[in-house]
Amino acid sequence: MELNRRTVIAGAAAAGVAAATTVGGTAHASGSGGRGKPVRTLFGRLADGTRVHSWSLENGGTRMRVLSYGGIVQSLEVPDRRGRYANVSLGFDALEDYVASSPYFGALIGRYGNRIGKGRFTLDGTVHQLSVNDGENSLHGGARGFDKRVWDVEPFTRGSDVGLRLHHTSVDGEMGYPGTLRATVTYTLTRDGDWRIDYEATTDKATVVNLTSHVYWNLAGESSGSVHDHELSLAASRYTPVDAGLIPTGELARVAGTPFDFRRAKPVGRDIRTPHQQVLYGQGFDHNWVLDKGVTARPEHAATLRDPSSGRTLRIATTEPGLQFYSGNFLDGTLVGTGGRVYRQGDGLCLETQHFPDSPNRPSFPSTVLRPGRTYRTTTIHSFGV
Ligand code: BGC
Repeated sequence: MELNRRTVIAGAAAAGVAAATTVGGTAHASGSGGRGKPVRTLFGRLADGTRVHSWSLENGGTRMRVLSYGGIVQSLEVPDRRGRYANVSLGFDALEDYVASSPYFGALIGRYGNRIGKGRFTLDGTVHQLSVNDGENSLHGGARGFDKRVWDVEPFTRGSDVGLRLHHTSVDGEMGYPGTLRATVTYTLTRDGDWRIDYEATTDKATVVNLTSHVYWNLAGESSGSVHDHELSLAASRYTPVDAGLIPTGELARVAGTPFDFRRAKPVGRDIRTPHQQVLYGQGFDHNWVLDKGVTARPEHAATLRDPSSGRTLRIATTEPGLQFYSGNFLDGTLVGTGGRVYRQGDGLCLETQHFPDSPNRPSFPSTVLRPGRTYRTTTIHSFGV
């Protein structure tokens, strides 16, 4: 059973638990669960002199830092069962590291989350060649996707919510995509400490869109080691098998009797060494699960992640039909995270709500086409508990 977030925070404060932690060199105020206006500080400058800001937000016991570069969640702190805070998302201390070598830590992904085969698709009879950045394929929007853009950030407080509205205009032809796409992503922290993401986009020419967020979760705290003991459940009876290049074959395969069966919670690492062809292709889990609920008008339950050691839980609800569960397979011990420690394989995992990879080439998958006059809208809610 999950405790109400405000009860936990109040309980920790009453017990006198010191809840202050340090992230990126700056101490946050202790865990009052309080809400304040988002605070902006200079995080760094890009090579061309462009300023990148860091925004600190807090509400309902959840604290986060967001960068204007890539809309990156640089840290997200939540309490454990004893009220002790930890940063549960992988990231870097310095802007240079995000620019030079980030595997999309915490970033907003666009125009197209995950892969498009051969970086090519046909829309209304026209072939579009995209920026290819993953073998012969296009991954996460191409060489310079939304994760590498400086977003305009507008803070807000509304009722009991606080948040940021992030805007980016992607020009016609950027990374090979047709149409000028105006994207607005709203990050909201609610009074219960939920992190809600609302994605919106419009276009002036028919195009494809698939926006997501690429936070690497480690509910025991980033730099605490592997997430293979975390228990995961996914509300999905099917997944989309892939070829060696991680492009879906088009099949929707049943998870029953395979390592992909997360319908009941199981440790992430339990079946990760099973010599199943799909696990071998992904070097672990790196697949799209077909959520049983499909596309929904309102966010519905998709996944639950739980760390038995700290008691922290994350529940994800979404309007999207798919979820990419990526078990951090390509973290290879070459990157040093915010905590000053090296990230190795499986030190974080991603749960990316999305439409299915390569949908522009798969008419049988839910469509990712956006046309002028229509608004792309999706919502994903992350709820934290213990
Ligand atoms: C993909 C992985 C990829 C990773 C990039 C995930 O969303 O599914 O294949 O390596 O992003 O860090």
